[in-house]
Amino acid sequence: MKKQQSNIILANWKMNLSTFESVGLAKKIVKGWSEIKTKDNKKPDFELVLCPSFPAIALVEQVIKKSDIKLGAQNVFWKQVGPYTGEVSPEVLREIGVSYVVVGHSERRQYLKETDVMVQHKLLAVLAQSLTPVLCVGETFSERQAGHKNIVVGRQVQAALAGVELGIEQQLVVAYEPVWVIGSGQAITHQEMVETAKVIKQVLIDMWPLEVVERQVRIIYGGSVDANNIMTCVGEEPLSGVLVGGASQDYNRLLPLLKQLAKA
Ligand code: PGA
Repeated sequence: MKKQQSNIILANWKMNLSTFESVGLAKKIVKGWSEIKTKDNKKPDFELVLCPSFPAIALVEQVIKKSDIKLGAQNVFWKQVGPYTGEVSPEVLREIGVSYVVVGHSERRQYLKETDVMVQHKLLAVLAQSLTPVLCVGETFSERQAGHKNIVVGRQVQAALAGVELGIEQQLVVAYEPVWVIGSGQAITHQEMVETAKVIKQVLIDMWPLEVVERQVRIIYGGSVDANNIMTCVGEEPLSGVLVGGASQDYNRLLPLLKQLAKA
């Protein structure tokens, strides 16, 4: 099947870096990224997105603004303005230069008790600001052991997207992240990634026209992606990129990963 969109790699720095470390890492990435592009003398066929913690977003934006690296947020609230102490609105994220917003990450579902309903509210609020949601879905180990992986993933996708319509200019990223694989150091097999991405694509096609899905949605994989396994995570439809946690937070781990992708 013909590839519709370029790959995307999102670096999810989680709560692991100080603002100082975030800025330092962003500076190294800008330099390394530009060297990769100069060396190959061609634009690598993927988009690079950095997702710092909230206090670091505006600082990292200053570092990357002259490059083609994009900015992502790890979370958002579903209202644009109002008395919601401690929350951050999609409108403000757009104002400071964010393009992508992660919604429904399993760590938030687990520790902050985010529900499918909250995830849908967030997704809609993000789309309303013409930002691109990165919807995270994935099964726990016990759900997988019980043979419910596809049901759980399909239900999460449906719950987040039921009734949602993508406008012609709007984009969506769906990240399949098996919860038990995140941070484990051991990614699942290429075959399993593709199989689950196909399940997700089918759920999307049941909701939206095929051309909308192929033109406006990217399905990506996340969970212990690193330089050693990155090439098993891309290159076969419908997989269109990766969400990288641990290996994106250390320049010496991220650079080889980017180089592998650029060679592909
Ligand atoms: P990991 O995290 O790459 O460290 O497994 C991925 C994620 O949580 O998005």
